Amino acid sequence: MRAGKQLLLLAAFTVVARCQQKPSVSMSPKLEQIFTGDLFYLTCDEGVSPVKWYKDGVENTWTNKMVKIPAASPQHSGSYQCESNGQRSDSFSIEVLKYLPSASLTILTGQPVMPLEDSVILKIENEDGLQGWNCWVNRGTTTRPIKLKLKEDTVSLPFQTNKLTVPETVYWCTNSTQGCRSNQITLRTSDKRVLLEMYPLPAVAGERLTLSCIARGTDRISQTIFYRNDQIIMTSDKSTYETDSEEGTYKCHATFTYMARTSGPPVKEVSDNQEVFPQEHPVQAELSENMDCTCKSCPSGAWSYRYYKEHHQSWAFVSSDTKPHGSGTFRCRAVLDNMRTSLSAPVYVPAAEPNLLLIIIVLVAASVIVLLVAVACYISHRRRNAQGAIYEDVALKLRRGGDDDKYETLQKASRTEAEYDTLQSEAAGTQKKSGEYEPLRKEEMKEGVYHTLGMEGAVAAGGGGGGGEGGYEALKKHEVKEGVYHTLGMEGAAGGAGGGGEGGYEALKKHEMKEGVYHTLGMEGAVAAGGGGGGGGEGGYEALKKHEVKEGVYHTLGKEGKV
Ligand SMILES: *[C@@H]1O[C@H](CO)[C@@H](O)[C@H](O)[C@H]1NC(C)=O
Repeated sequence: MRAGKQLLLLAAFTVVARCQQKPSVSMSPKLEQIFTGDLFYLTCDEGVSPVKWYKDGVENTWTNKMVKIPAASPQHSGSYQCESNGQRSDSFSIEVLKYLPSASLTILTGQPVMPLEDSVILKIENEDGLQGWNCWVNRGTTTRPIKLKLKEDTVSLPFQTNKLTVPETVYWCTNSTQGCRSNQITLRTSDKRVLLEMYPLPAVAGERLTLSCIARGTDRISQTIFYRNDQIIMTSDKSTYETDSEEGTYKCHATFTYMARTSGPPVKEVSDNQEVFPQEHPVQAELSENMDCTCKSCPSGAWSYRYYKEHHQSWAFVSSDTKPHGSGTFRCRAVLDNMRTSLSAPVYVPAAEPNLLLIIIVLVAASVIVLLVAVACYISHRRRNAQGAIYEDVALKLRRGGDDDKYETLQKASRTEAEYDTLQSEAAGTQKKSGEYEPLRKEEMKEGVYHTLGMEGAVAAGGGGGGGEGGYEALKKHEVKEGVYHTLGMEGAAGGAGGGGEGGYEALKKHEMKEGVYHTLGMEGAVAAGGGGGGGGEGGYEALKKHEVKEGVYHTLGKEGKV
């Protein structure tokens, strides 16, 4: 009896002693840094419910001894105190970072909501290596370490979780001093046959949220109804629905059948409720068109900048503080010791322009070589054969390939002196404008042949013909009609002496045998030939220049063109 009384007294004493103890605020799981979206609990230790909670000295609405913060946001930053039996705790300070942790933890196989007793495979990834890293699991009140079996220094490692036995299990990883960590992955369990999955989780304010209704053991869902706060937001024959990230309690109702079913009505079932707390978007880096990575809202510090390139629908880390080269789609982020910004908006860099220019130059060079070979072949061929025969062939071809529209301009131009002058200046103008022609000219600048080709090219450009093609080709097209022929023939004569476009000159000589024109031309041809004989290709060009300079000769030709 006496002993019982003493025991009662002792019990009463301990209760009083406990009540007099000052409460204190603790955090579970204990996180060294808190990032947006983190899940944690605050507990008023030694407190007896109901307790009072203060944030920055102001009482708030919480009354429970243990308070859950389901998705931390910067508004949660502050100094917390709890009060129990008239005693207030010391302040407990919380700072929620608007950044991402250094490492990322993702679900490799499985979903955020799993059937009881199932497990998922998670993947931890840290660009700076995982040496010394381990992970942690929190099941409400207890936190346990998970040892990672790292075979070599690697940047990513998949690992399987234990069977999920409680409604909510939180995973994250840290380095050995816990100075660095990953984001959290929260896995929930459900014993329902219908599960509601949401991506991304935690939801991000201002971004889309994908809801997916899954029936275990079948994909034959004939109808899905999605609810937010018990209100229907969507009725659909599809099992996924995309919506704005809005805070609320979500669930889905599915009508489905199993594969093995032969008769009977379909199954209708509703999922568990899932709470959504959209988190604020973490600070984002900006990437400019010329690959400058910046973070305007980052506080000053030793930030470095990392670049990522799109590779098989994911973002591969390519360089740190060095602008990436080449084409592709890039993003970047700013990185500090223990945190980083989210990835910038992607910037597409097309294949570099110089490459394209190089291709054009190569193509032009190739066509010039082909042209030179063709000219050389033609010269040797001509030397071996009778001139008349060759001319006849050429003439026939030319008649078929004549371009009337283009010819019209040329012909008119050659009718009168004035018009002819116009043609000459037009030819020069077009020559400058033609992009493809320019490289060709540069290419051949050093060669004597160029001068000849250049002149004929000018004619080709004047007549609207292709600049890239050989001067001789262009010339051929224009030779269809007599009037123009004379004019061109003259130029051909000059060119012929140079050794480049023999065709024109020879053809002219042949063709105009019967006409008076020939004599004049022949004479000039003689001048040109003389020049060509004296100085090879260069000489030919000089001869031509002489023609142009000497007005008298020119006019004569113009008149003759009319005949
Ligand atoms: C853990 O990360 C922090 C922050 O980056 C770093 O200062 C610390 O040295 C790291 N600890 C180890 C053991 O690497």
